[in-house]
Amino acid sequence: MAKHIKGVVLAGGLGTRLYPLTKVTNKHLLPVYNKPMIYYPIQTLVEAGIRDILIVTGGNNAGDFLRLLGNGKEFGLHHVHYTYQEGEGGIAEALGLAEHFADGGLLCVILGDNIIEKSITRYVENFLEQGSGAKILLKEVPDPQRFGVPVIENGRLVRIEEKPATPASPYAVTGIYFYDAQVFDIIRGLTPSQRGELEITDVNNTYIERGQMTYDILDGWWTDAGTFESLLLANNLVARLHQERRAGTGH
Ligand code: G1P
Repeated sequence: MAKHIKGVVLAGGLGTRLYPLTKVTNKHLLPVYNKPMIYYPIQTLVEAGIRDILIVTGGNNAGDFLRLLGNGKEFGLHHVHYTYQEGEGGIAEALGLAEHFADGGLLCVILGDNIIEKSITRYVENFLEQGSGAKILLKEVPDPQRFGVPVIENGRLVRIEEKPATPASPYAVTGIYFYDAQVFDIIRGLTPSQRGELEITDVNNTYIERGQMTYDILDGWWTDAGTFESLLLANNLVARLHQERRAGTGH
């Protein structure tokens, strides 16, 4: 059983769905309640015991990540790794830049705009026990057509459809993924989708075809923050969490 897992936060892209908020800055530096957006995925990794973290940034004001996060002292880290994605080649292309960092080991990958309520520790432990292949985390949502949607037959994950007009299930594939080092060869074999990007869904479907993909259902709320509606929702959910914690009613 592998004992170590490294973390990758994907924080590139042009954030065009949030234009003009993202005209002069990176989406992941925008505020979500009382912190910059990227704090949340970093905190998610750190709280799960993942301390070796690579930030893949790109687009506007990439240098601001270094000023904001430095060596990760605010998160109790001694060091943070950084790399830069040129252009907007998609989530899978951004992940491809993590090959040297991964050094043949296991990765927990989180999208920089994914914000969750609870700990991912149990899923990290599950994947460490699994030891190879991949794992995705699913969450039931009211609007699955906005996301990658799993097709599940008799409890078995058959494939993932990216933003289907007619979703086959009420679940979204969240932006929290676990991979072994096969992921880099898989990424090298991808071709760009209609939106001109290397899709993480194509990576996940390859693992499914190889019979090496597992899934868990994520506990607690989850949202992305890449559209005006979801950014507002993320702000409100985090604000409510703070209120609950202040009132001592958080679970
Ligand atoms: C991406 C993935 C999608 C996933 C979502 C989670 O979508 O392509 O499969 O469900 O992140 O946030 P995007 O935000 O790039 O449209």
